[in-house]
Amino acid sequence: MVSPPWAEAASHEQYFVLLTGANSGVGLGIGQRIIDEFLTSRSLSSHLILIPTTRSVNKSRDTILSLRAHLQKAANTSKKLRARSGPAYDPQTVISRVHILSVQLDLCSPRSIYQVAEQLVHGQVHDPTGLIDDVQIPRIDAALFNAGIGGWSGINWLGLLRQFLLRGLVQSCTFPSFKIALPAAVLDQRRLLGSSVQKMEREPPELAEVFCANVFGHYLLAHELLPIMARSDPNEPPGRIIWTSSIDAGQDHLSFEDFQARRKKPPYESSKRITDLICLTADLPSVQKVSASYFDSPAVADKPIKPRFYLSHPGIVCTPLFPLNWFLFWAYTFAMYLARWLGSPWHPVEPYLGACATSWLALADQETLDSLRAEHVKWGASTSRLGRAAPKKTEVEGWGWEGKVEDGKTWKEDPTAAIPDMHGRKWNAVDLTEDQRIQFEDDGRKCWTELEKLRTAWELALKKGDAALNQNGH
Ligand SMILES: NC(=O)c1ccc[n+]([C@@H]2O[C@H](COP(=O)([O-])OP(=O)(O)OC[C@H]3O[C@@H](n4cnc5c(N)ncnc54)[C@H](OP(=O)(O)O)[C@@H]3O)[C@@H](O)[C@H]2O)c1
Repeated sequence: MVSPPWAEAASHEQYFVLLTGANSGVGLGIGQRIIDEFLTSRSLSSHLILIPTTRSVNKSRDTILSLRAHLQKAANTSKKLRARSGPAYDPQTVISRVHILSVQLDLCSPRSIYQVAEQLVHGQVHDPTGLIDDVQIPRIDAALFNAGIGGWSGINWLGLLRQFLLRGLVQSCTFPSFKIALPAAVLDQRRLLGSSVQKMEREPPELAEVFCANVFGHYLLAHELLPIMARSDPNEPPGRIIWTSSIDAGQDHLSFEDFQARRKKPPYESSKRITDLICLTADLPSVQKVSASYFDSPAVADKPIKPRFYLSHPGIVCTPLFPLNWFLFWAYTFAMYLARWLGSPWHPVEPYLGACATSWLALADQETLDSLRAEHVKWGASTSRLGRAAPKKTEVEGWGWEGKVEDGKTWKEDPTAAIPDMHGRKWNAVDLTEDQRIQFEDDGRKCWTELEKLRTAWELALKKGDAALNQNGH
């Protein structure tokens, strides 16, 4: 077998990053930013192996070519890179430290998720452009769960006018209550189950599309990737799983009677609330009782250091996520810039700026993340009026900024923070009380319970069902 181009580097100088939904919007921005920040922050002999996922081979090829073009440009024009290496700077040396491969993943198909995970854990990863030979990867250091769908049909114009008059432009552009959610589409169960259905005593529960693309698909994927994300050596940094939420993920959006938001609630916002709840509560003692079955799978019995969940969001970025015609897209983009110029911290608008929180979580050294207790914070991409991007703590309803009970007197801002925490609060935000904090943990436990039930039902149906079919020679 041919050695991969990073084989000469020491293991700790190889950094493996998986990025879902990399062909568009924020995902592409994250890919570009990870390349730039890796090259300007890591040692000159370290290698980045970036594995963007898309939904087709063509999209994978285009994404790789686009990221390589970005790399080429950065290597040839970045003053920072030149300054790091001194007079002997050679752009080719920089380019040769970044390797991009891809896999094709559909998060709305558990079968596709199992296949991709199997490929990453036991099989080989391809480069559809043919530059790099097929290769088996030893581990993943950071999995960036960015892919997602919106599930809206348009705008309630009367609602927009009302919110604008009542709350003003910045609040209306940050926490819009006028998006019209489509009724949640349910995925075709026959298609998902395929031939396994013949052997099934009981079918697993149906899956709603937005819920599956945004949360459940990633939830399954992270579990399947445990063998290459958990560690046996406590001196190795733990794997990082970085989830993507949204600033607008309030408590009202989730109902446990309608967990997949098929009837009552807006599916997108509901899926993001679940994301906040599972990430921020994952390591709390009362939740660990439920999440243990997820992290302690037999496949990783010899790897006690489990990957950590981190939570990010990109602020507001103009991408195809929200369906708008070209004219409305232009007007929307203008309104978002206006909100930023009026002082909103949550309007990066451009994907590259919206990527700053995720890329920081992916590349920061472990001591920094631990000292900030970063796994208990929702990190947003914030931007100054002039477009300087930086990760910033985001207030979460029921959790506050970091799960600590607050009142106006005890809450202390970090005086050195570029953008104060209080800046960008929702109009009706209140200081966190003990009761709300307890409720949040309780809701986190309920989410984990629901997701574990679904995961085991689908695993039984597909993995074990397929194994039974294969054994019987069908
Ligand atoms: N834009 C914002 O203002 C904003 C705000 C808050 C949070 N976010 C979050 O940021 C993330 C990226 O959104 P975006 O604005 O960049 O949207 P986008 O441009 O529409 O990108 C979404 C990406 O997800 C992929 N995707 C969708 N469904 C998938 C599935 N079933 N399986 C695999 N991949 C799938 C898409 O692939 P295809 O191209 O094949 O469809 C695309 O690559 C999402 O999680 C979103 O919720 C965005």
